[in-house]
Amino acid sequence: MHLQIFPTFCVFMIINFIHFPILLGADNELYTNCSRLYPCANIPDIPYPFWGGDKPEYCGNPIFELNCQGEAPNITIDSRPYRVLSINNATFTLNVAQEEFWNNNCPAELHNATLDATHFQYAPTTEELMLYYGCRVIATGSPIPNQFNCSENQIIDTFGIYVTANLPSTALITSNVNCSNGVSVRVNQTAAEALAGNASGNITQVLNSGFGLVWEANNTDCQSCVGSGGRCGTDSTRPGSFVCYCSDGSYLTSCNSIKISSGR
Ligand SMILES: *[C@@H]1O[C@H](CO)[C@@H](O)[C@H](O)[C@H]1NC(C)=O
Ligand SMILES: *[C@@H]1O[C@H](CO)[C@@H](O)[C@H](O)[C@H]1NC(C)=O
Ligand SMILES: *[C@@H]1O[C@H](CO)[C@@H](O)[C@H](O)[C@H]1NC(C)=O
Ligand SMILES: *[C@@H]1O[C@H](CO)[C@@H](O)[C@H](O)[C@H]1NC(C)=O
Ligand SMILES: *[C@@H]1O[C@H](CO)[C@@H](O)[C@H](O)[C@H]1NC(C)=O
Ligand SMILES: *[C@@H]1O[C@H](CO)[C@@H](O)[C@H](O)[C@H]1NC(C)=O
Ligand SMILES: *[C@@H]1O[C@H](CO)[C@@H](O)[C@H](O)[C@H]1NC(C)=O
Ligand SMILES: *[C@@H]1O[C@H](CO)[C@@H](O)[C@H](O)[C@H]1NC(C)=O
Ligand SMILES: *[C@@H]1O[C@H](CO)[C@@H](O)[C@H](O)[C@H]1NC(C)=O
Repeated sequence: MHLQIFPTFCVFMIINFIHFPILLGADNELYTNCSRLYPCANIPDIPYPFWGGDKPEYCGNPIFELNCQGEAPNITIDSRPYRVLSINNATFTLNVAQEEFWNNNCPAELHNATLDATHFQYAPTTEELMLYYGCRVIATGSPIPNQFNCSENQIIDTFGIYVTANLPSTALITSNVNCSNGVSVRVNQTAAEALAGNASGNITQVLNSGFGLVWEANNTDCQSCVGSGGRCGTDSTRPGSFVCYCSDGSYLTSCNSIKISSGR
């Protein structure tokens, strides 16, 4: 019994002896810090370029700050808040829902959302949808499809209409109905198609299911950095510049590229 434990103990000591100085001597604290898992609200680990919560800005890109306080992370893009549903760093796609439309067809204020085009693009799987509010029937004719109410037992005699790309839109709106306001939103194309001409379609569920945004934050540099064993980030000494943190220092793009500084 004791003789069997002894060699195991010896091996354990040797491994410890080898590993311990390496851990202590890991000269790049930035590399170590950016190697940790960083949960944010209900997402177990937020990848580069995202940061926020406990994750330092230098492990992400300043533009991609997440608020981790609520039940789901949120991000502000061109001054509009979005709820982050999922993040896929293999396709650089983030699935979001507009915060003001979360469980709510009829936000208090209407804004046509725009994107910060240098960092975000709509994923090809998104579709534009128009939501019209304060609509009244002004002429008899074919029945008006795709109506929704702003509240279950609404008192006001107006209603909303949603119009997808594959439905007649403006012609119908102007000839049959008069709406006081309209707003453009993005939704998942699959969800939008299931909604078109569907009597039991639910616009709230479609808005909640979100849509894809593709991000750009030195994506290819980050891929080569990670591929060489590094961690991506932004160099606080050269504001806004991509940096690859490696165990022995910081590099321009990957651990095989130009060294910017030794670790700290
Ligand atoms: C993607 O994220 C996972 C988990 O956060 C991480 O292990 C992986 O290295 C990331 N890949 C890239 C290319 O950043
Ligand atoms: C983001 O989420 C937090 C926590 O739920 C909330 O307090 C904050 O208002 C949200 N931000 C926006 C812009 O909606
Ligand atoms: C909206 O409310 C009105 C009045 O309560 C009702 O007749 C109508 O069916 C509702 N429409 C929808 C789409 O729920
Ligand atoms: C639509 O309604 C607005 C006021 O709600 C009114 O000024 C306008 O004339 C109406 N348009 C038509 C075509 O009825
Ligand atoms: C949104 O844009 C449409 C035109 O695309 C415009 O008719 C509408 O008034 C705009 N809505 C708001 C709230 O700015
Ligand atoms: C119609 O909408 C309901 C509720 O969202 C959904 O379950 C159903 O699959 C849709 N039908 C079609 C044909 O897409
Ligand atoms: C539509 O979906 C929302 C969210 O799931 C739900 O609260 C609402 O009752 C649904 N409306 C209808 C008319 O089914
Ligand atoms: C769109 O919705 C479908 C069905 O709900 C889902 O399988 C798909 O992953 C969604 N796509 C995006 C980009 O969210
Ligand atoms: C990162 O992206 C920025 C802006 O697109 C670009 O100016 C820069 O050259 C890229 N590479 C690095 C290593 O910063």
